[in-house]
Amino acid sequence: MEQKFIPYQQKELTASEQLATSKAYYEELNRRRSVREFSDEPVDIKVIENAILAGATAPSGAHKQPWTFCVVSNADLKAKIRAAAETEEKQNYSTRMSDRWKEDLEPFGTNWEKPFIDIAPYIVILFKRAFETIDGEKRNNYYVNESVGIAAGMFIAAINNAGLSSLTHTPSPMNFLAKVLERPENERAYLLMPVGYAAKDAEVPDITRKKLDEVMVHYK
Ligand SMILES: Cc1cc2nc3c(=O)[nH]c(=O)nc-3n(C[C@H](O)[C@H](O)[C@H](O)COP(=O)(O)O)c2cc1C
Repeated sequence: MEQKFIPYQQKELTASEQLATSKAYYEELNRRRSVREFSDEPVDIKVIENAILAGATAPSGAHKQPWTFCVVSNADLKAKIRAAAETEEKQNYSTRMSDRWKEDLEPFGTNWEKPFIDIAPYIVILFKRAFETIDGEKRNNYYVNESVGIAAGMFIAAINNAGLSSLTHTPSPMNFLAKVLERPENERAYLLMPVGYAAKDAEVPDITRKKLDEVMVHYK
């Protein structure tokens, strides 16, 4: 099938507008923090839908869009997910994690307990789609991890932009999520993200981000 091409409309900014908007966008993203204490204050589902649409604009290998965003607001399902996540995390903290790993996690004050799964109004579980079945034929998607990682980043940025908070949570292993949510066999859980307002008294670790000269190398 021949692909139709259409003219592309680039957003037009002056050089000074580019400087101002790029700085403002950085500052907006730099306010984002991983929040582990959520409020149960309701959030309009349309905001979540818009953030998912934003995430789903991500580029993907051969435009296969290999992602599904599952949104859980049902209290019973959240309770099931929390119980299963805590079972895995209890084992992680007691036997599976190395001492070095636990030492690295110490500053964040995390443990096996995940009350935010019950409390946040939405739990967004992002699934990656390893393959599609077309006319009975299994076709692998391309660069699935890279594609879904970009979609996750864009979703997280959109949530932050909407004045909400999220946490990238990875209870490991995560295969219980496909079971609880009855996902098809081509889907694997990629990230679990509680989304909502941060609790009024929420605190985050006082961490710093690498400076520009630590993350950028310019070859002139
Ligand atoms: C792939 C990935 C997995 C993560 N898994 C967890 C997790 O399971 N539990 C948790 O509390 N934080 C988790 N985090 C959050 C990180 O701890 C957090 O991003 C980091 O400490 C930097 O803090 P910031 O997000 O506030 O900048 C994860 C982050 C990423 C990118």
